Amino acid sequence: MKVELNHIYKSFGNVHANHDISMTVEAGTVYGVLGENGAGKSTLSKILSGFITKDRGEILLNGIEANIQNPADAIAAGVGMLHQDPLDFPSLSVLDNFMAGRSTLRKIKSNKQHSDNRSDLVKELRQLSTAFGFELHPRDRVANLTVGERQQLEILRLLSLGVKTLILDEPTTGISASQKTALFAAVKQLASEGKSIIFVSHKLEDVEELCDRLMVMRQGKVVGEADVKGRDSAELASSLVEMMFGRELSIPAKHETSLDNQEPALIINDLHVEGDRLSLQIEKLTVAAGEIIGLAGLEGNGQQLLLLACAGLLQPKTGSIRINGLEMVHRNYRNFLKAGIGYLPADRLQDGLIRGLSIHEHFMLRQPNSGSNAGFFINWRDTRKLTEQAIKTFNIRGKPITKVEKLSGGNQQRTQISLLPDFLSLLLMEQPTRGLDIESTLWIWKQMMERCEKGMMIFFISSDLDEILQYSDRILVFSGGRVSQPLDAKTLTVDKLGQAIGGKFE
Ligand SMILES: Nc1ncnc2c1ncn2[C@@H]1O[C@H](COP(=O)(O)OP(=O)(O)O)[C@@H](O)[C@H]1O
Ligand SMILES: [Mg+2]
Repeated sequence: MKVELNHIYKSFGNVHANHDISMTVEAGTVYGVLGENGAGKSTLSKILSGFITKDRGEILLNGIEANIQNPADAIAAGVGMLHQDPLDFPSLSVLDNFMAGRSTLRKIKSNKQHSDNRSDLVKELRQLSTAFGFELHPRDRVANLTVGERQQLEILRLLSLGVKTLILDEPTTGISASQKTALFAAVKQLASEGKSIIFVSHKLEDVEELCDRLMVMRQGKVVGEADVKGRDSAELASSLVEMMFGRELSIPAKHETSLDNQEPALIINDLHVEGDRLSLQIEKLTVAAGEIIGLAGLEGNGQQLLLLACAGLLQPKTGSIRINGLEMVHRNYRNFLKAGIGYLPADRLQDGLIRGLSIHEHFMLRQPNSGSNAGFFINWRDTRKLTEQAIKTFNIRGKPITKVEKLSGGNQQRTQISLLPDFLSLLLMEQPTRGLDIESTLWIWKQMMERCEKGMMIFFISSDLDEILQYSDRILVFSGGRVSQPLDAKTLTVDKLGQAIGGKFE
């Protein structure tokens, strides 16, 4: 189905979320909508799929103007959307979710094509699952599925409702690498069957891999369109980044640091840490002040154990961790704070920040009685100033009274970083830029590099191999609780690192 949007406008108050958006998606192609957070991508998707109504503009489906007022209209016209946040019913079964929306559609189309017969539907669900290589079991509860599986189910539901245009809004956030592979294969299959796919993303690499053509949105407007197939990938990437941000972004870097002409600031000897499922063993590791060590490996191969042991959150069985001459093993958590060890957990809202508390209250907790008249009473005024200052310095899009769960991922991470002490000797980071847009990612690394120039060491875990290669001085590869010799990041490629993670290291 060919989809044309002509001069679409939508405002929320004085925010022009969509301003004069036009695009054409040919049947049988994958069309990318790329833009950083807040560009207006979800608004556009929701207009086309009937979840919100446009202020102005027209939508043509196969050349005929479509009057889409609500999601049921859209589905009846053959347009379905997979939302950024799942809209399913977690307490119901896979089959019940699969059936959602059928009766409404039957009323609109007034035919019997969409049967309610459960055994017919089980059959259909099984057939569709098999066709796409998904593993969905009709009786499972949706609450027990992974994000990726819920997404698969929603795609199948939309297909069974006869959707010919499928909008996927940021579908690769929160799913595993293998689920992403399955998703991309399914999208390609659907396009080859003549369906139109609109793929919304802020990730360059996803769009480059999957789309035939794309447009870039910024601040509610279309800033450019491009063909993807047959383009040189580096050249395409740099032109897209420039369109997304209005300028070229530079990747932060720091001076190379090595142990050659200085004493190690951190020394680990014969460390043995017991985890729930595996134990970590490190014979010897020495790190120079200012060095960044990337911890690579499939999740759960011991990287977390090293971070937790260095953070003072898990006591090693035996061995020694010396930081600037201080033995840390068997010390209590306060000693770790005093030694200047900081920890940025991966789950920002679970382990890092406290839901329900504002940015201001977080600063309050960090230093309850700092400032001019430190004493028994909480000094709200001084910490408010501190908070306002931090919001400026760290470029947090929020106010002192904003509750942390209302912030976007990038701003939550900025808040976590703003709460760290000014000087740390060692910072432990887990997935520091997961789910963040490019601008926030580069901003965060720039902050980190500046701190490393002053002597801070970093250990960081990332499942993004490019990030590990880009920012590490040296890399440790973890496999089953064993750790490779430190590898020099400069001499590695993604392929070689991938092989090492796959188990090929001495
Ligand atoms: N329901 C809404 N009410 C008010 N503002 C909104 C609403 N939905 C989106 N916006 C605003 O519109 C802009 C575009 O948002 P969105 O379409 O979600 O962007 P994207 O999906 O590209 O991140 C943002 O500034 C956002 O805050
Ligand atoms: Mg969005």
